[in-house]
Amino acid sequence: MKAVRLRTEYLIDPLGVDFSRPRLMWNCEGGIRQTTYRIVSGSWDSGKVESPSMRAEYPKKLRDRERVVWKICLWDENGEAGEWSEAFFETGISSWEAKWITGDYAVNRKERYPVDCFRKTFEVGREAVSARLYITACGLYEAQLGGKRVGNFVMAPGYTDYRKRVQYQTYDVTGQVSEGENELTVQLADGWYRGSTGAWGRKNQYGTETKLLAQLEITYADGHRDTVATDESWQWSDDGPVRFADNKDGETVEAFRSPLYNGHAKVTKHSVIPSASNNVPVTEHETFKPSLITTPSGKTVLDFGQNIAGYVSFSLDARVGQRILLRFGEMLDANGEFTQENIQLKRKGFITPLQQVDYTCAEGRNEYKTRFAVFGFRYALVETEVPFSPGDFTAIAVYSDLEQTGRFESSNELLNRFFDATVWSAKGNHLDIPTDCPTRERHGWTGDAQIFARTASYLFSFAPFARKYENDLIDAQHRNGNFTQIAPVGGVDPYMNTMDGSAGWSDAGVLIPWVIYSQYGDRRILEDTYDNMRRFALYKIKTVGKWYLTSVPTGIGLKGSRSISNYGQSYGEWAEPSDVNPFSIKDFINPHPEETTAYIVYMLRHMEKIASLLGRTEDTGLFHENAEKVRSGYRELVKTKKFSLDTDRQAKLARPLFMDLLDGEQTEYAKKRLIKALDNYRWRLGTGFLTTPLILYVLADMDPEYAYRLLENEEIPGWLSMPKNGATTIWENWDGPFNTQGAGLGSLNHYSKGALVEWLFTSMCGIRVAGENRFTVSPQPGGSFTMAEASYDSIFGTIKSGWKRHEGVTVFTVTVPSNCEADIRLPDGRTESAGPGTHEFTV
Ligand code: BGC
Repeated sequence: MKAVRLRTEYLIDPLGVDFSRPRLMWNCEGGIRQTTYRIVSGSWDSGKVESPSMRAEYPKKLRDRERVVWKICLWDENGEAGEWSEAFFETGISSWEAKWITGDYAVNRKERYPVDCFRKTFEVGREAVSARLYITACGLYEAQLGGKRVGNFVMAPGYTDYRKRVQYQTYDVTGQVSEGENELTVQLADGWYRGSTGAWGRKNQYGTETKLLAQLEITYADGHRDTVATDESWQWSDDGPVRFADNKDGETVEAFRSPLYNGHAKVTKHSVIPSASNNVPVTEHETFKPSLITTPSGKTVLDFGQNIAGYVSFSLDARVGQRILLRFGEMLDANGEFTQENIQLKRKGFITPLQQVDYTCAEGRNEYKTRFAVFGFRYALVETEVPFSPGDFTAIAVYSDLEQTGRFESSNELLNRFFDATVWSAKGNHLDIPTDCPTRERHGWTGDAQIFARTASYLFSFAPFARKYENDLIDAQHRNGNFTQIAPVGGVDPYMNTMDGSAGWSDAGVLIPWVIYSQYGDRRILEDTYDNMRRFALYKIKTVGKWYLTSVPTGIGLKGSRSISNYGQSYGEWAEPSDVNPFSIKDFINPHPEETTAYIVYMLRHMEKIASLLGRTEDTGLFHENAEKVRSGYRELVKTKKFSLDTDRQAKLARPLFMDLLDGEQTEYAKKRLIKALDNYRWRLGTGFLTTPLILYVLADMDPEYAYRLLENEEIPGWLSMPKNGATTIWENWDGPFNTQGAGLGSLNHYSKGALVEWLFTSMCGIRVAGENRFTVSPQPGGSFTMAEASYDSIFGTIKSGWKRHEGVTVFTVTVPSNCEADIRLPDGRTESAGPGTHEFTV
């Protein structure tokens, strides 16, 4: 038996991390049961540890710049030792010799500035055995050393609230340092720090002065270390080719320029000491070649075939001064013309985002790739007199380097395409933070992330990314304990702030750590964030029974009002199809007692479980009692006319059923009423943001055929209507570019409706993580499907479950990873306990 997929805190051989007690993780291959492991790392030898656990804590205190190589050997069920496997991690630095530097100019906050160019030349007198560049910025940086780009992190240093947390990166640049003179150059752009951020493209959200911090350390064979660090000796100018760069608006480039570096950097300060992100970097991924479209009005458009977040590169011959204008969009309008209508917000002549590249050529060969912006697009409108062929252009997908762990296929081609579209929307919306869309807002909406978290944890190795986002939530947490609706908070205007606490959005602060715990067996995320979660829960408890300026009349009576939440502005179910619940401005202004009350119960129940898991017994009673109290309020609320269960709004019925909020009689009624509501809506989907991922669970619980009937409906609104109408990513509005429901054109890359995908794993194929080294597999075939199969590289190994139906016989195939066990439940009621290997069952 051999240890495979070796990781340190989920990361493969990470550099520059700053964990204090990293967990070493692995999976087993080639045996049934791990009886013993032994880990050796330098002077630490764990000795033979009799344990089936596939993780162990590194026990030694870590110093800066420490490279820890760890080797592991496993003993199988026969007591046989296997081959050794090896992995490493390297710590970063916790204090800096480098000084923060900035460009030598006075900043006017109303103006935009070209990208800063910094340079440092230095001598290296002998051969280096290792070199590391530790670097970060308030802004975005790209470094070059020895004529080559350093590392592969795009949009570095990533996105945090820079006033509270700045992430640095560590790059191994050993191969880029040579004996003799060396040149290190860095370009510094505005990024999220100073450039446009969020729905309204607000600027200067974290500061007005962009700055850079870099420390190059060169180590020689005798252990001696030279340091080249940012300070006033660095050369500077802002006359380089990138004249303008903005995350949302794009770049203006004059390729014929090169920086003179004829000035000097200014030393400045920043209030935060950078820390490691302990997360995956943002990197380039798939590439696409376009086909060429000439639109009815004669415009030239490149169609890359897939809606992505990323940018374009080109390689062209041109004359100096010739221009190439590129604009990026997701769709063609009803007349077949390029448009950005669906992704732009316009206010008083101001438009965001512009998503464009304005490039002026140098003489001869022009090689270009965007550096300091990412766009959401499938199409590029090209305006130029430079002759080109489509093959000169390449689209490059850019997203956090999340390893894909989940795969799915079924006999329904539309569902397969929906799955692929979800994967693409997930890729397009994970750029260091989870976003709503990669175009219009690019906000770290907590609701969208919460809704999608379980799906994300099946699709990707999501834990380190989620942990980083939880830090963002905590950085944004209000003093009163409330979590925000958006994190990091850049781009949020004072009005939007009033929506903090919104049910299903702010609950992300509790629900995301819970997903990570249950999916990865990660207790530590609960331990580390417990106090923040607790403060949020206490805040929410205080809102129960409280009156708010725009509290809505409920008819529940004074006594009943004490047990519900009719407090604060929130979105409610948000974005139900407009014929189910037409949008009203009141949706922004009023509290939503039904949703808010429900989510308080749901969140408090999670808190009760978490408190009891962590042994915080002093809190369990508090959470339990309040959950019960608010639940009783909910039961009263749905007895009122206004919030009656006698409704065609599917969300109003599916939510309390999913969350188990009703009494026995109410539950029976709500189930029947939900089926009637679906009948009345021709079995199309009528839910909004919050309940779309929940409704199939509720239906399958009554009868899987109900769930399949809704799933397989291809009409709008419904999941399959998207691929049926050509979607390559998930749409914000059910009718996407068609605007049949009067909701206005929305973004075409909004992953939240893709949260259906968790159900394909948990229920259709039935794979759930049930604890350390344990799964339950309870597949539920149904509808007109003849096959479905899912595979999941879980934290404990790869588990697969599939089924095939033919002439009334269903064959189930389950593959359990080495050192794990699965409790298999078949639809005929049979239960089997299965160990590693592939098992087949016929029903
Ligand atoms: C965003 C969402 C977000 C919502 C809040 C929208 O404009 O795009 O995805 O969650 O606002 O209601």
